[in-house]
Amino acid sequence: MSSEKPSLEVCLSPALLHLYNTAGSVVVIIDIFRATSTITAALHNGAASVIPVASVQDCIAIGNSLPNSLTAGERDGKIAPGLQHGNSPLEYPTDFVQGKTLVLTTTNGTRLLHMVKDAAQIVIGSFLNLSVVCDYLLAQNKNVLLGCASWKDKYNLEDTLFAGAVVSRVGHAFEVNCDAARGARHLFNSTGGSNFINFLRDSSHYRRLSAYGLEEDMEYCVTPDKHPVLPLLQGDRIVAVR
Ligand code: MLT
Repeated sequence: MSSEKPSLEVCLSPALLHLYNTAGSVVVIIDIFRATSTITAALHNGAASVIPVASVQDCIAIGNSLPNSLTAGERDGKIAPGLQHGNSPLEYPTDFVQGKTLVLTTTNGTRLLHMVKDAAQIVIGSFLNLSVVCDYLLAQNKNVLLGCASWKDKYNLEDTLFAGAVVSRVGHAFEVNCDAARGARHLFNSTGGSNFINFLRDSSHYRRLSAYGLEEDMEYCVTPDKHPVLPLLQGDRIVAVR
């Protein structure tokens, strides 16, 4: 076996995805506020699976055809008309979501998921499952791309901060020859590694969501390791591997 380390790179926006070779890699999808946090929380709380879909129309059609499913998602941070539930990790406690399939469509997170075509594995990453994701990446011995869902292709701080947390934890085991990864690590280090919400209050999506009274959601989304579960894409569904 070669002693060369696999590579670790960060893609800061879906608009840059074409610049990266994802074939055979592990791709971590990151949408801290809030899609990947919601997926992680719902699966840890017992959801049978999450089906990420691109459009509200598809979400409703799939939801109608699947017994024991819920349609959920947002557009521009608000529950999309026609869907039953939103994109809040707090909406899916165990007594509500246990055994159900969440059919989810969001502005950025589920979109990026559908853009990655040839990865060996797609993983859902969030602060809520930070350690589980890092342990998984260390165990794979494969190239890794940390993919930030960003906001409508524009850079965002919360996804970059999480990417930096991962680079800082696992970077020693990889060849990190990527300035986006170095920059993300610097950003993470600048926070001192804690109190992320203070840092993120001055971010565009924090401002956008706080205008809808969703501060509690965002505080929840930056709680490390609250939901230790490994959500992996298998076929068209995301399932929990514990
Ligand atoms: C997204 O996928 O765009 C987000 O998760 C938006 C949100 O609900 O905050």
